Amino acid sequence: MDQYIIRGGNPLVGEVEITGAKNAALAILAASAMTDETVTIENMPDEADTNVLLRTMNDLGIFTHRTSRHIVRINAAKARNMPVDNEGIKKIRASYYLIGALLGKYRRAKVVLPGGCAIGLRPVDQHMKGFAALGATCRIEHGYITAEAKELHGAHIYLDISSVGATINIMMAATMATGQTIIENAAKEPHVVDLANFLNSMGARIKGAGTDVIRIRGVEKLHGTDYAIIPDQIEAGTFMMASAVTRGDITVTNVIPKHLESISAKLKEMGCQITEQDDAVRVVCRDRVRSTHVKTLPYPGFPTDMQPQITVALGLSNGVSIVTESIFENRFKYVDELVSMGASIKVEGSTAIISGVEKYTGAHITAPDLRAGAALVLAGLVADGFTTVDNIHFIERGYEDFYMKLRSLGAIIERLENADERSEQKFRLKYA
Ligand code: UD1
Repeated sequence: MDQYIIRGGNPLVGEVEITGAKNAALAILAASAMTDETVTIENMPDEADTNVLLRTMNDLGIFTHRTSRHIVRINAAKARNMPVDNEGIKKIRASYYLIGALLGKYRRAKVVLPGGCAIGLRPVDQHMKGFAALGATCRIEHGYITAEAKELHGAHIYLDISSVGATINIMMAATMATGQTIIENAAKEPHVVDLANFLNSMGARIKGAGTDVIRIRGVEKLHGTDYAIIPDQIEAGTFMMASAVTRGDITVTNVIPKHLESISAKLKEMGCQITEQDDAVRVVCRDRVRSTHVKTLPYPGFPTDMQPQITVALGLSNGVSIVTESIFENRFKYVDELVSMGASIKVEGSTAIISGVEKYTGAHITAPDLRAGAALVLAGLVADGFTTVDNIHFIERGYEDFYMKLRSLGAIIERLENADERSEQKFRLKYA
């Protein structure tokens, strides 16, 4: 099994360049199958999730080629609309974006039920409600979601929950429906806006993305485009939080500071100094952080995908903090691991009550999912002694070069492939 092994104690200092946003990339990749013309996408992250989706698109006969590490060219003229299913795609959440894309283009889609992080129930009823309103018949059977329609027509859709996935999926299908679709209570996350901009650059007519009412005038055809994906809000936020955890001085570059405002605001409350430039944010946290309260909310609120990282930071604060998770019902699974490192945290339902401790201590821990895994690595970076993190494939689903970037900031961390006791021992001797 691959592992990270960390010797804690170094404050992280320096600049780190943020890659393209994973969650925008996944939606944009699926949408690129909606035209027969060539699409070139820049700032494409090179991570497990995006690579799984690219391979799956290949399986469907779609031409995909990374002309360089972060530029991908796609041509779906020879796409075969067959059931979307392979071992990799079952594990990623965004597999279901192919439903909206293929339903829009071909009027039918059959995709294996999505996986992704086990952080709650994650139903797809809002997606299906949207497709049905557009005139599709949707079923879940034998582990697949199937959607088909003779004709797709515009509709007025009110989402019960402002779901990111449902907004994206409905937006894609509606782009090629006849007439006008209005999505009310739409998600406002930056990647929803990025997808709308991408589709508009292909000839779609979408207005209002980034507000809670999105209006889409259907078009018959989409054309090729060149497009650059926005920077990853959560990767940037994770490094900003690394500064708070390790009492460091980190500048995240190639970011959109506006997307990071809720994170910057919390870091300020915690006593860190934040300096914003046009496309960079510097976070300096020399002292022990101050306790505060956090509630996760849809954008522009504090992102649920940053909840474990801020909990790790607050675990070392000077008082009692309360973190409330309001998006997913099972997102505190990592707390047991953090407690094994000396944290003092009590979880009651959707709330974590955190009594700050002075230090964490190294332990052998397991990443339970993507963001919690990254958060536990941050804990290891400040802990006394050595920390070993198992299940790092979760982390590598959504962070490009994570441990290399941490190293460039001064972290002592190695990635052990097929780790055995000897390689772990070697690391311990080297950094004892
Ligand atoms: C996306 C992100 C994920 C992020 C989340 C919230 C991707 C690939 N993933 O996930 O990283 O944590 O947004 O910002 O972009 N819900 C329903 N019915 C539905 C759909 C959702 O009840 O049909 C509920 C979910 O269970 C959850 C809430 O709505 O409680 C929000 O989920 P949603 O915004 O859809 O998250 P995802 O798109 O799955």
